[in-house]
Amino acid sequence: RKIPATLIPGDGIGPEIVDVVERVFDALGNPFIWEKHQAGLNALEKSGDLLPESTLDSIRRTGLALKGPLTTPIGGGFRSVNVRLREAFQLYANVRPARTIIPGGRYDKIDLVLIRENLEGLYVGHEHYVPIDGDPHAVAMATGINTRAGSRRIAKFAFDYAVRNSRKKVTIVHKANVLKALTGLFLETAKQVSADYAGQIETNERIVDACAMQLVLNPWQFDVIVSTNLFGDILSDQIAGLVGGLGMAPGANIGEHAAIFEAVHGSAPDIAGQGKANPSALLLAGALMLEHKDMYAEAQWLRSAIDSVLSTEEGRTHDLGGSVSTSLFGDMVIDRIRG
Ligand code: NAI
Ligand code: MG
Repeated sequence: RKIPATLIPGDGIGPEIVDVVERVFDALGNPFIWEKHQAGLNALEKSGDLLPESTLDSIRRTGLALKGPLTTPIGGGFRSVNVRLREAFQLYANVRPARTIIPGGRYDKIDLVLIRENLEGLYVGHEHYVPIDGDPHAVAMATGINTRAGSRRIAKFAFDYAVRNSRKKVTIVHKANVLKALTGLFLETAKQVSADYAGQIETNERIVDACAMQLVLNPWQFDVIVSTNLFGDILSDQIAGLVGGLGMAPGANIGEHAAIFEAVHGSAPDIAGQGKANPSALLLAGALMLEHKDMYAEAQWLRSAIDSVLSTEEGRTHDLGGSVSTSLFGDMVIDRIRG
């Protein structure tokens, strides 16, 4: 009983790293049946649409996708495909784990997860200018929107995630001292939700600027962090930096009816087609997808294989100061999986 899932090769280094994912998943006895569909610049060139209807249809059917990075053309007024997917499938939770894989870096033994509200806040796109004295852009205004229902939904997701993944603590990150209504509502609601998990999950709160400092001074105090859209966006890249950058960072975008897994990095056009791409982030996104479908053992098996390869000097791609090619890296992971 294999699970249908949409697989999007994407642009730039996308097809190279997706090829590794396909081969590695085959070695794991792939629990998924891939439906391959296009999105991004390559789709625009082939079918005139960055996000073809056939790709959307596939995700509507499967409710599950693994996505290579997509190039959003600059100019021409194209909206980001990632944002369109988020809205189309109401992917309200963005999950960004950060875990030390290569020991001996600036920070060792980091293991935390940031959960970001993905649809509300200051990213709703309600912006406008106010002209004064002939200057059309004299004043810029943006409206942030947080709702009780949206705040409850993301808080509940974070606490349920903590329970499911044997985490101990959830930190609610806000700026309720200044943005009293916008993030005060989020804080108040998240605290209400936390009461349902009392005795099971510890809860605390941090103001976002203090949290940013604490993440640098003592990141080990954190376990699961939940925050609003803008703060979550910034802190999620910060925690990726704690563990060696975007090349190793997976992400998940999760809604009620669909979930899309991806590497956090982009299509890296500067190294596309050269066999220099590190497929780790997308492979780790695949591990998140296995967990999402409750295949925790398979996810752990995959992660151990990746860790084992990266722990050797020969198993490092260009971005990590090594010289192993993308496909050879894949072969090494497959060797570990086959034991
Ligand atoms: P990028 O993440 O593609 O590249 C930044 C730097 O990191 C480059 O030097 C690149 O070579 C390197 N890099 C990234 N991933 C790597 C990997 N797996 N292995 C080794 N090196 C890696 O960011 P950039 O250059 O700002 O964006 C390029 C394109 O990607 C743009 O069109 C942008 O819109 C798109 N993008 C797409 C995302 C997505 O689909 N989720 C996310 C971010 C950017
Ligand atoms: Mg971001």
